[in-house]
Amino acid sequence: MKNKGEILSQIGADLSKGYVIAVISLLAIAFSIAIGIIIVGSKQDVEAGEIPDPKQTLHKAPDASTIPFGKEGELIKYGSDLIRNTAYYLGPKGKVAQISNGLNCQNCHQDAGTKPWGNNYFAVASTYPKFRERSGSIESIKKRVNDCFERSLNGKALNEESKEMRAIVAYINWLGTGVPKGVTPNGTGIYKVPYLDRAASPEKGKLVYKEKCQSCHQADGQGIKNPEGWGYTYPPLWGENSYNNGAGLYRLSRFAGYVKYNMPQGVNHTNPELSDEEAWDVAAFVNSQPRPSKDLSKDWPNIAGKPIDHPFGPYADNFTEEQHKYGPFKPIEEAKNKNKK
Ligand code: HEC
Ligand code: HEC
Repeated sequence: MKNKGEILSQIGADLSKGYVIAVISLLAIAFSIAIGIIIVGSKQDVEAGEIPDPKQTLHKAPDASTIPFGKEGELIKYGSDLIRNTAYYLGPKGKVAQISNGLNCQNCHQDAGTKPWGNNYFAVASTYPKFRERSGSIESIKKRVNDCFERSLNGKALNEESKEMRAIVAYINWLGTGVPKGVTPNGTGIYKVPYLDRAASPEKGKLVYKEKCQSCHQADGQGIKNPEGWGYTYPPLWGENSYNNGAGLYRLSRFAGYVKYNMPQGVNHTNPELSDEEAWDVAAFVNSQPRPSKDLSKDWPNIAGKPIDHPFGPYADNFTEEQHKYGPFKPIEEAKNKNKK
């Protein structure tokens, strides 16, 4: 075997010295960045959306050009299409089945689940199957997808063996390419907006809504249908065609975190428009409007596992439903942390 020196001098004979040094330093830089990403990434093994510092380098979804050719690739592309145009296939006028309310997954999972802090799917392939307190069971990706069909799309579960479910799962798994098992990369899911010292206010939120949301989502919150009529250009935020009271967005922290870095349409984590207060208040306003309800009696079998902003009792503490819905949340969190010790 040749040693490194010999190999280098051989290369040096063929190439100019400067070029070799440039290549070596580039390799060294690339290597340290890769290690940096692995270290930073693996430190973040926390629940989706619980990551505090939005200024860290954020994870990027794989490029669409890396979708393989052939059958598997076709399935992944169909999955991506289903996420973007869910209602076209599965909405009230769906081509394949009529099992959901007209929303698209992408309405809440921006850019087909690839946008940093846009409620993306970065950590789904790497962290499922996993135990979830809401169901008290270990959930597969299919089960989690159906949670959103039954709650966020106020609809019915998709058959787990259907081509549509296999396609959605194939797409989500492809999106997780390169994320090591168990790791939640930076920028995953929904940003956690710091708690206010007061309760979120529906009255103040109504003013935010008028000024910053109504032009698209409309005064009555019903949005605007798309010209083709199968879905929405601007999706509804309440009423019979919206997500139900068992959906993630019905929790104020999820709503506030989603809109902080994604609404009004066009903002992201580098150019948010809403202050933290506005995000909480508009969440309080929208989630005090009427919407479909779901039987939630089987949810949260262990009441101590309820998130602090789950708006329905019974609770393991003595705070009211009102405070669990609107806050202030800090006292609830402090009481919970005390109990843990
Ligand atoms: C009305 C908004 C909304 C719609 C529409 C919606 N979701 Fe969700 N989804 C959420 C919220 C909120 C969460 C929870 C995020 C959190 O708690 O951090 C979530 C979570 C998920 C997760 C788990 C993510 C994780 O990292 O654990 C998957 C998978 C998912 N949704 C798939 C889908 C699919 C597929 C569709 C379309 C059939 C869909 N969702 C439609 C709001 C929505
Ligand atoms: C310029 C138009 C526009 C404005 C203004 C706007 N939105 Fe949206 N909103 C959209 C569009 C478009 C979507 C769907 C996003 C997608 O599919 O990529 C959306 C989606 C949503 C969703 C998730 C889907 C659903 O129907 O539940 C919520 C929640 C939301 N907006 C809240 C707000 C709030 C709160 C404001 C004001 C702070 C706001 N939006 C301002 C255009 C807008």
